[in-house]
Amino acid sequence: MTLSNRGQVDPFIVMDVMRAANQREADGHDVVHMEVGQPGTPAPQLALNAASRALHAHRLGYAEALGLPALRARIARHYEEAYGTTVSADQVIVTSGSSGGFQLAFLAAFDAGARIALAMPAYPAYRNIIKAMDLEMVPVRTGAGSGYQMTAEALDEAARTTRLDGVLIASPANPTGAMIEPGELAAIGKVARQHGLTLISDEIYHRLTYGTVPEATALASNPDAIVINSFSKYYSMTGWRIGWMIAPHEMVRPIERLAQNLFISVPTLSQIAAVEAFEATQELESNFAVYRANRDVLMKGLPTAGFTNLAPSDGAFYIYADVSDLTRDSEELCRRILEEADIAVTPGTDFDPEAGKTTLRFSFAGPTSHMIEAVKRLKAMKLS
Ligand SMILES: Cc1ncc(COP(=O)(O)O)c(C=O)c1O
Repeated sequence: MTLSNRGQVDPFIVMDVMRAANQREADGHDVVHMEVGQPGTPAPQLALNAASRALHAHRLGYAEALGLPALRARIARHYEEAYGTTVSADQVIVTSGSSGGFQLAFLAAFDAGARIALAMPAYPAYRNIIKAMDLEMVPVRTGAGSGYQMTAEALDEAARTTRLDGVLIASPANPTGAMIEPGELAAIGKVARQHGLTLISDEIYHRLTYGTVPEATALASNPDAIVINSFSKYYSMTGWRIGWMIAPHEMVRPIERLAQNLFISVPTLSQIAAVEAFEATQELESNFAVYRANRDVLMKGLPTAGFTNLAPSDGAFYIYADVSDLTRDSEELCRRILEEADIAVTPGTDFDPEAGKTTLRFSFAGPTSHMIEAVKRLKAMKLS
């Protein structure tokens, strides 16, 4: 038997936390889940109705590798409606969640050995997919000073001092929720063009933003960007495994060939349901109102419980806390919080193996009553 180096990627620590939390629940504890970043709500009713009709009336065979034409057209229209940006349906590629989008984007844009800049802390799958594809991550450290985000200046500095082929940005970001101002986004695009870098923008948390920073798609200032998005978060369809990407015209045919060979197609049932998700604004906005209320509870409550240094939660459903005044071992602190307060939270080491030793991520995608309970329990804990 042989084992590849490419398979030697880090585990998802959040999944280990979830296993421990589930075990505690099975032992009879009432655990508040703040570890996993997924909505507690089902797919919107309109999407469920469409899927239910399709189960009876549709053959549900393979779809075209780039996606159902009706869904591609609906996604293109979304860009006009949401951002006033014109996107041709030919540039839209339906993917197996944004995760499928990353695989296609990296394969279509880069050859083995290519180097991709990434602001740290970051969603762990970025660095793990990059490694699994024999690409190399170039970490760009961020912190409170840079708003926990990539900046044009930091990218320029990285491109001048090391070889770079691409840059991956996310706004709002996981784990911090931090966003990039539209002007800075345009400046990052300009620096990327100057240095001949491929810009990939993860926009999975769009429409989950709290008005502190305007939401802008990278396409508005960078028509050559590869934009990745998903039905998993705002649209509450995680298990349907469906997302999309917008790619420059010349990249579409290579992506189509890759998608044909790697996936054949994205599940047809999910695609039929997803078309309707765009019409479910009322239901989805009421889900969003819960996140907004949760964010208020935590932004006010966490400092009273000893978490005083919080990253700006401009979007998504996360609060990232700097706990360097409490610990040098965030995994141990998470274990304590689970054991003493029955709250599952994710250690920062998932998002940055080094600097994450002094940070934690709270996910607030659950019900508001759980957030209130979490603050109460954390306040009762002796943290320091
Ligand atoms: C920043 C970010 N990108 C991508 C994903 C992957 O999502 P999916 O493949 O379900 O679209 C996640 C999931 O948590 C995420 O947080």
